[in-house]
Amino acid sequence: MARTFTRPKIALIGAGQIGGNLAFMAAQKQLGDIVLFDIPQNESVAQGKALDICQSSWVYGYDAKIKGSANYDDVAGADVVIVTAGLPRKPGMSRDDLLDTNVKIMKDVASNLKKHTPDAFVIVISNPLDAMVYTMAKVSGIKPSHVVGMAGVLDSSRFNHFVAEKLGVSIEDVQSFVLGGHGDDMVPVVDYCSVGGVPLAQLMAKADIDAIVERTRKGGGEIVALLKTGSAYYAPAASAIAMAEAYIHDKKRVLPCAAMCTGQYGLKDLYVGVPALIGKGGVEKVIEVKLSDADKKALDVSASHVKELVDEANKRLAL
Ligand code: APR
Repeated sequence: MARTFTRPKIALIGAGQIGGNLAFMAAQKQLGDIVLFDIPQNESVAQGKALDICQSSWVYGYDAKIKGSANYDDVAGADVVIVTAGLPRKPGMSRDDLLDTNVKIMKDVASNLKKHTPDAFVIVISNPLDAMVYTMAKVSGIKPSHVVGMAGVLDSSRFNHFVAEKLGVSIEDVQSFVLGGHGDDMVPVVDYCSVGGVPLAQLMAKADIDAIVERTRKGGGEIVALLKTGSAYYAPAASAIAMAEAYIHDKKRVLPCAAMCTGQYGLKDLYVGVPALIGKGGVEKVIEVKLSDADKKALDVSASHVKELVDEANKRLAL
C-alpha cells in the first residue's frame, strides 16, 4: 500500500499505558504521524487516546496526525513500529511469568508486521523482553538490524537517576550502561559509569554503588509493587522514543539495547542487551568493550538465562 503520510509514520502496537505515553511523547517531539493500534476489543480506547492527544496539539503546537485503529491497513508502510502488545506484570510476578501469554501475542503481531511493515525499524518493549525480541525477529523475518529491544536505555536511565540522586549532581552529567538480559541478573557496568567524566568509584563508596546496582536490577519490580495494577510506563516510553529518534534522525547514538549479537561478547545468534550504534541503518553496529572478568562472568550468566527463555519461546512457537 502506498504511503499516505508525508511525515515519517510511526505505528504503536498496543494502546495501553506505555502505548498511550509513546503516542503523546512522539507527538510532542513531532517525530511523525502516529497510528495507535490495539485489538478490536480495545479499539475505542486507542481512538479515545488518539483524540485526546490530538486535542492537546494546539497547546503544544504540533501538527502530527494521530489515529487510533484496530486495522493493520492503517499500520501498513510504517517507518517505525514500537510494540507494547502484551500483558504487564502484577505484584509478585517475574517478567518470565508473562512468557506463555505474550509469546502468542507477539507471534500474532509479528506475522502482521511481516505482511504490512517488512521494512520498518521495530522496537519491542513487551516482556520478557529478550525472548519477545527474538520472537519478533523470527516470526516477522524482518532483518536483525531492524529488530531491537528496549531495555538497556531504561535500565541505564534508572541507574543514572539513582546515582544523580545519591550524589546530588545533575542527571545530565551521569553516564553508564547496563548489559545483558532485561531481568534481575542484568549487568550495570560500574567500570564505565562516570559523573562529568570522573569514574563513579572515585565519587561513591562501594557499598552505595552495590546498593544502586541492586536497586537498578530490581527497578521494574519496585514500580510494580507500588503501582499494584501494572508495570512502569513513563520511563519505558521515554526510552523507546530516544531509540526511535536516533533512527529517524540518523543520530548514530550509542544506546544499550537488546540487539542481535553475531559473536560479540562471545554471544552468537542471541538478542541480548549490548551497546549499539543506532542510525538510519537501524542497529548499525554492536559495540564491543573490554569487560572485567567479573562483569564478563555476570554477562554470561545473564545471557544463559536469556538463552533458556528463548528455548522456551521456541517450544511454544513450535506448537
Ligand atoms: N495486538 C495488539 N495489541 C494487543 C494485543 C495484540 N495481539 N494483545 C494485547 N494487546 C494490547 C492490550 O489490549 C493492551 O491495550 O496491549 C496493550 C498492553 O497495554 P497495558 O496492559 O497497559 O500494558 P503496558 O503497561 O503498556 O505494558 C505493555 O510492555 O513493559 C512491558 O511488561 C510490559 O509486556 C508489557 C508491555
